[in-house]
Amino acid sequence: MNIVLMGPPGAGKGTQADVMARNLFVPHISTGDIFRANIKAGTELGQLANQYISKGDLVPDEVTMGMIKDRLAEDDCAKGFILDGLPRTIGQADALEAILAEQGKKLDKVVNIDVPADLLITRLSGRRVCRNCSQTYHLENNPPTEPGRCDECGGELYQRADDSEETIKNRLDVYTEQSAPLIAYYEQKGLLLSINGNQSINKVLTDIGKGLGQSW
Ligand code: AP5
Ligand code: MG
Ligand code: ZN
Repeated sequence: MNIVLMGPPGAGKGTQADVMARNLFVPHISTGDIFRANIKAGTELGQLANQYISKGDLVPDEVTMGMIKDRLAEDDCAKGFILDGLPRTIGQADALEAILAEQGKKLDKVVNIDVPADLLITRLSGRRVCRNCSQTYHLENNPPTEPGRCDECGGELYQRADDSEETIKNRLDVYTEQSAPLIAYYEQKGLLLSINGNQSINKVLTDIGKGLGQSW
């Protein structure tokens, strides 16, 4: 199954995509995670991307699409994928369609996780991420068993640099201006599955499963 997972910053894309990918035996491809791995490794792509990510702006489409084209051509995407965080502009959506068509593929569903704006700030400011395996926690909604330590691997938990109050505000504005129009775009194409994200993590997962015909 070829799936796009959309939603504003903090909607729960990464949280849901992780579990969905494990259940569907397909890769979870998060553009944000790929950029952060490149920033950590100090690559040229990472240095370029960091100039935008640190401010909460979008990385230019040509950079992002070049990266994703290569990733989707890898063998592990043959049986499907979950794209988390792309597309974020109408231009990216058109480019993605063209890349997939070249590979003889198309999207099966676009899942949009809908969460009211006032909740997103609390979700992002309370988020903690494992430095080692990227597992995501929340200080109140989904705390680790031992404070500051990852349940999965024991790694150290940290706060993402773009989860500062000022950057969060810009990310939410960028979402409203550049990414929210994708909801109508995919609705018109008959691909949209809208999910109420203002529910427990498990209930959101169950609803996504129902919409995709999966009983996980
Ligand atoms: P990216 O890393 O994708 O950030 P984002 O879109 O802002 O989304 P987040 O990862 O912040 O939120 P999420 O929806 O994954 O929520 P999560 O599951 O963690 O992108 C970062 C940056 O990279 C962008 O700003 C941009 O600069 C660049 N970039 C990436 N893709 C790009 C592209 N295509 N084009 C251009 N630039 C791009 O959950 C959030 C918190 O809430 C967690 O603490 C979690 O535990 C908690 N939580 C989750 N679900 C629930 C629930 N149901 N109830 C209660 N708490 C919950
Ligand atoms: Mg994420
Ligand atoms: Zn970990």
